[in-house]
Amino acid sequence: MHAIRASVLSFHRDPGALGAREISGDLSANIENSVYSYFEDGCVLINEHGNIEAVGPWQQLGNDLAANIIVDDYSGHLLCPGFIDTHVHGAQLDVIASYGTQLLDWLAVHTFPAEAKFEKAEHARLQARLFFNELLRNGTTSAAVWPTVHEQASTIFFQEAQRLGLRLVSGKVLMDQHCPINLRDENLQTTERVLRAQIERWHGQDRLSYALTPRFAVATSEPLMQLAGRLFAEMPGLYMQNHVAENKAEVQLIKQLYPAERSYLALYERMGFCAPRSIFAHCIWFDQQDWHLMQRSGSAIAFCPSSNLFLGSGFFDLKLADQYSINVGLASDVGGGTSLNMLQTMSSAYLVQQQIGASLHPLRQFYLATLGGAKVLDWQDKVGRVARGYEADLVVLKWASDPVEKNRQLLSKTLADRLFSLSTLGGRANVVATYVRGKKVDSPVEAVS
Ligand code: GUN
Ligand code: ZN
Repeated sequence: MHAIRASVLSFHRDPGALGAREISGDLSANIENSVYSYFEDGCVLINEHGNIEAVGPWQQLGNDLAANIIVDDYSGHLLCPGFIDTHVHGAQLDVIASYGTQLLDWLAVHTFPAEAKFEKAEHARLQARLFFNELLRNGTTSAAVWPTVHEQASTIFFQEAQRLGLRLVSGKVLMDQHCPINLRDENLQTTERVLRAQIERWHGQDRLSYALTPRFAVATSEPLMQLAGRLFAEMPGLYMQNHVAENKAEVQLIKQLYPAERSYLALYERMGFCAPRSIFAHCIWFDQQDWHLMQRSGSAIAFCPSSNLFLGSGFFDLKLADQYSINVGLASDVGGGTSLNMLQTMSSAYLVQQQIGASLHPLRQFYLATLGGAKVLDWQDKVGRVARGYEADLVVLKWASDPVEKNRQLLSKTLADRLFSLSTLGGRANVVATYVRGKKVDSPVEAVS
């Protein structure tokens, strides 16, 4: 058993339905309500299996600790559940900050050439290490990760995640048209054999789960999508992840490729993709029937705000998703996204909602990056909360990492305001420590050549 002392924030449920007034607590007191708890001077007890044994005020739990229990003292810092990134491309670190294109050109000019390099195992290994190190340095402990089309590269991502003990969803990307020849699945039989072998090898191993990963209906042919849909239906417990209705030109191209289809999402429904454990990234250009279909099918959404801003894709309507009671998580979508950091992703989510006349409340920002993401990945009983019985994946954050942040924090009178200035101004420099299953991650390698 060991203990951590810090200010502890954790959600019990989605604050979305409540008004901002109801959920802003006074800073001086501990706050415990049906939505979240916040202990200004809190204590988390972690057992030898890496699970949380107890959470509460330090005065209640900390003072009675046996003398031999080690305490990591982060008094004055904020501890929350490790962040959860519901959609990120582990093979796109080379692509971040690529100038001047929108989705379809961006894929052709920048992204596909970068992903082609993953044919070589050494490149895939170095990039996978760099990627997971950076996730952890940013306080992200769980993710739905896209590798590339290459069997070996996707195996390497699983191996590296397993080595670090991460909770992860991933799976070989499926693509066989409208992309470079060297990035295509060659034939259905081979792909099916590879998928079955990978699922057998990785799904349910340690904290790893397998996701069928058809890239999108532009680059994935109907027969290949059908294969993904068939395996998804055949093996309960698998995940499905893809991109939908991200960019106007993309939606137009789908109309040309599938003129008889009611919509982009309707095509995916016909392929068997719309179901619980299916995670759709973007969901910007939906009509009302699409929203109903998302709701009916229990599908979830990865909201990718920095990517949507960077690629000029459009503004995801969180309010509409709420009206249809759809699970939404935050996603960096690197390399379309500009940062792996979830504080910055929260801030981008606020910026996107502002464009459509909505203000994303800071408590909701933190909810979306923790328990909201856990729900999208169906892990709401395992991670995403600092609560008894949960896996101790945690992040410790500095409220301020520079004088401007400090000045702004000193003005904050409510928890909500402190959180808002942290998410608006903060970033990688605010991450003090990351814990995976109760173990502090050793300061990960800064750079991999
Ligand atoms: N649609 C198909 N592939 C991709 C990708 O790699 N990134 C984004 N943002 N959208 C996509
Ligand atoms: Zn993506």
